[in-house]
Amino acid sequence: MKAVFIDHFGGPEVLKYGDLPDPVAAPGEVVVDVHAASVNGADWKVRVGQYKQTKFPFALGRDFSGVVSAVGAGVDDLKVGDAVFGVLEAGQEGAYAEKVAVKAAIVAKKPDALSHVNAAALALTGLTALSAIEDTLKLKAGETILVQGGAGGVAGFAIQLAKHIGARVITTTSGANRDYVRGLGADEVIDYNTTDFTKAVSGCDAVFDTVGGDVAEKSFAVLKSGGRAAFIASGAQAPKPNRDDVTSLRPPVGRARRPLERIAELVQADAVRPPAVKLYRLADAADAHRVSEGRHFRGKLVFQVR
Ligand SMILES: NC(=O)c1ccc[n+]([C@@H]2O[C@H](COP(=O)([O-])OP(=O)(O)OC[C@H]3O[C@@H](n4cnc5c(N)ncnc54)[C@H](OP(=O)(O)O)[C@@H]3O)[C@@H](O)[C@H]2O)c1
Repeated sequence: MKAVFIDHFGGPEVLKYGDLPDPVAAPGEVVVDVHAASVNGADWKVRVGQYKQTKFPFALGRDFSGVVSAVGAGVDDLKVGDAVFGVLEAGQEGAYAEKVAVKAAIVAKKPDALSHVNAAALALTGLTALSAIEDTLKLKAGETILVQGGAGGVAGFAIQLAKHIGARVITTTSGANRDYVRGLGADEVIDYNTTDFTKAVSGCDAVFDTVGGDVAEKSFAVLKSGGRAAFIASGAQAPKPNRDDVTSLRPPVGRARRPLERIAELVQADAVRPPAVKLYRLADAADAHRVSEGRHFRGKLVFQVR
């Protein structure tokens, strides 16, 4: 099969488009013929060696949408021909490929109304936003949340989910993405290039930070006493708060079928719309990684694989 893989860590130029052996379905697994795979912020971090993979070569990529082409022993709830989407096990890469083997229990059926491209775009972003907003922050109707990095993939899902829950949503973005985040439902938009969010926002019940660095560290300032903040761009641990009356949390973002089904339900109920998508061919993965690593684009970058 064709795939995008690396045989050593480095810049976008280390991404190779070439042949890898077709995967086979082990017991409990299915092989999915990938139609679309998305680019996530983690992918360039894996490429440069921030994670600990050592078995080269390996294909990159975490989420995918496609059609089941083989079923391993013991799988009785999926069959060849089913359209499915999902996210590989934490620590496993390999979705930038024509085929991927994955545990059947962590993929879900893709609704017909959702294209493969949009299903791939929503898989890891959706799991992450659900884990952060519902399971970790436990956001409630009537609360106010600041979502940092509103134009990104995870934040875009989070804004819509928070609105669906009935919260008031403030978000940060560059001016170019102001209308985009308004369209997602944000009640208040802060252009981070012209306004210091710590001066413009206060008294929030919750913060969801998808930006990291200084933005994460400064986010505690906008919380009211008793507020909670969740961080996904500050590594494996949430940053330590500089005050003792707030809670700092790191969403676990597990892999399971049920939250994927919930993503599908939210889309079918029109509560969450797919993000803006820029399409790439697998052969152009280096270009997609340059854009992803630049961190100033809108929505999601997605490979149209077939
Ligand atoms: N399991 C997990 O823990 C997990 C899962 C998914 C993602 N993540 C992490 O979460 C982070 C977000 O990922 P993502 O894919 O949603 O987006 P991303 O690709 O990392 O970020 C892109 C967005 O960030 C915005 N941005 C950049 N600097 C900003 C700033 N200072 N203030 C506000 N917005 C800013 C950009 O908007 P502008 O162009 O308007 O600046 C752009 O839309 C990444 O670090 C990723 O690795 C973790």
